[in-house]
Amino acid sequence: MFVEPLSYSTFLFKYQILPYSVLFNCHPTLLIEERTVTFFLTEVLNQMCLLFAASLLLIWTIIIRMAAPLVSASPLVEPKLPRPDDMVTTGVFSSFQNFIRKCLIAVLSYGPMPKHIAFIMDGNRRYAKFRSIQEGTGHRVGFSSLMANLLYCHEMGVKYITVYAFSIDNFKRDPSEVQALMELMEEKINELLEHSNVINKVNCKINFWGNLDMLCEPVRLAAQKLMDKTAQNTGIVFSVCMPYNSTSEIVNAVNGVCAEKREMLQKENSSNFNGHDANGGVHSEISVADLDRHMYSVGCPDPDIMIRTSGETRLSNFLLWQTTFSHLQNPDPLWPEFSFRHLVWAILQYQRVYPYLEETKKLAKKQL
Ligand SMILES: *[C@@H]1O[C@H](CO)[C@@H](O)[C@H](O)[C@H]1NC(C)=O
Ligand SMILES: *[C@@H]1O[C@H](CO)[C@@H](O)[C@H](O)[C@H]1NC(C)=O
Repeated sequence: MFVEPLSYSTFLFKYQILPYSVLFNCHPTLLIEERTVTFFLTEVLNQMCLLFAASLLLIWTIIIRMAAPLVSASPLVEPKLPRPDDMVTTGVFSSFQNFIRKCLIAVLSYGPMPKHIAFIMDGNRRYAKFRSIQEGTGHRVGFSSLMANLLYCHEMGVKYITVYAFSIDNFKRDPSEVQALMELMEEKINELLEHSNVINKVNCKINFWGNLDMLCEPVRLAAQKLMDKTAQNTGIVFSVCMPYNSTSEIVNAVNGVCAEKREMLQKENSSNFNGHDANGGVHSEISVADLDRHMYSVGCPDPDIMIRTSGETRLSNFLLWQTTFSHLQNPDPLWPEFSFRHLVWAILQYQRVYPYLEETKKLAKKQL
């Protein structure tokens, strides 16, 4: 019986072992497309980068674990004055943390960075429930988590941040809870107003998107004031959606466009009152660009990443018009627990699918 000896190249193909030497010398019996080589190399590079980032992340996590008892996980729950010793230790730790954070951001910035990140801040109530603290405290911790994440995004050079703070549906919740939330918002907006010189220094523009008429008077006025005060800023753009839902945004935009068209038609009608209407009907059609102009998000690019915390997988009527090409992510931590490492992980995942996202975008544009 004749058994063909397994040649080197068949062996390689059969067992899919492609050592570097073969790849680089391009063994004549081995037809390796250029594509394979680049794919292989990018894969190796990717893995190396991931490994590097993962080890940095590991160090970061260890530091957090070590520093946690010192810093105290939620200083807002039990405000206690730090003793001088504590302050020294936390000072050292936080400057080391800052250093590592800067390193990680520098590593991340080699890849494509998102311009716009949208958050659905889910899990504040569950956080309070699991720790058996008051619901309001859960929202408070959630707010400090929001401020921290804003800062991280700013450091990473993400220019647009949008958060879902309150949906129109939330009004159906327990009235006392709605009341408490409104009070919290008023308090926080007023705090921001007090520190508006800091906000202006950071060059941060704050928008409120939604049916502001539905808010109670003090909150609405405060929100309006904050928007006016920061309207001139040209740096980071922070948009708070409250009370918001996307269908309502679209309906508002359609109404806005209709009103505009009506006005235009009337003007035209009166200007050539006894003339023959030459291009009647042409202006009456509504285009996508018209609607875009009337969305709250006018002037903002569409979100690159949409993050919904606490593992929920629904969009819940948030930015439906704007998220066609966004990368959706649903990390497990509850919103108050969402920290820097989760944000880094989200961006790494985005960078991994970036080529695919760009490809789909290009294809969609071609088909239009
Ligand atoms: C969205 O908001 C509108 C009010 O503007 C409301 O009638 C509608 O029920 C909301 N939709 C959802 C799905 O919450
Ligand atoms: C245009 O003018 C005519 C004549 O006055 C009027 O009958 C018509 O309703 C007007 N159309 C619009 C869209 O205003």
